[in-house]
Amino acid sequence: MHRVLRIGHRGAAGHAPENTLAAIEKGIAFGVDFVEIDMRRTADGALVVLHDETVNRTTNGTGLVAQLSLADLKKLDAGNGEHIPTLEDVLKVIARRAGLMLELKVKGTAQQAVEVVREAGFRNPIIYASFLHEELSHVRAVDPGASLMVLFGRVPNDAVSSALAHGPSHIGLRHDTATRRLVEDFHRAGLLVFVYTADSPGDIQHAVSLGVDGVISNFPERIMNQ
Ligand code: G3P
Ligand code: CA
Repeated sequence: MHRVLRIGHRGAAGHAPENTLAAIEKGIAFGVDFVEIDMRRTADGALVVLHDETVNRTTNGTGLVAQLSLADLKKLDAGNGEHIPTLEDVLKVIARRAGLMLELKVKGTAQQAVEVVREAGFRNPIIYASFLHEELSHVRAVDPGASLMVLFGRVPNDAVSSALAHGPSHIGLRHDTATRRLVEDFHRAGLLVFVYTADSPGDIQHAVSLGVDGVISNFPERIMNQ
């Protein structure tokens, strides 16, 4: 039986404030194969790690990330005294200890993300993921060898062909949309399938039973292989 990969969602957001270096350290301590993070761009062009369009939910500040400077963001408390990291901060902290699943949340950031990863000399496996499928094609244009993950929310009828148009290696499905049939269809197309975000032992167990290749969880320590 193949080993199911363990991916720490937003670091390991069940254990520390999401998308912070503390959450990433937790994920690494649990031995995750990949750390998943969300990436956005500030008003002054820095790539930062934050899920939402605004800082309102996850910090003590308010406003749109795209209208705040990096200096503004760095002043905010992202929970337990943590700060919003830049992509460079995360690459440095992960170093050689885990892979990175980098979710591009905004259009027009692909080239810069690839350049930052290159400049950091990050050598571990990296998967560029996005619901913005065109963005993945932009990654491919600047890094022909990149591993790409097409993320689906609702799964369209033509999921396999529409995904293949972007040349991915991976598919990311919402855990409650995954079926054995769908997983097999993607496998036949040569793609690996991860599911997000499975947290309860039952949901994780169900995903594993479908034959998925990776589970993305806020509690990655719960992902056991049978
Ligand atoms: O990895 C995919 C998953 O993170 C997508 O959902 O909203 O948590 O970014 P979200
Ligand atoms: Ca994400």
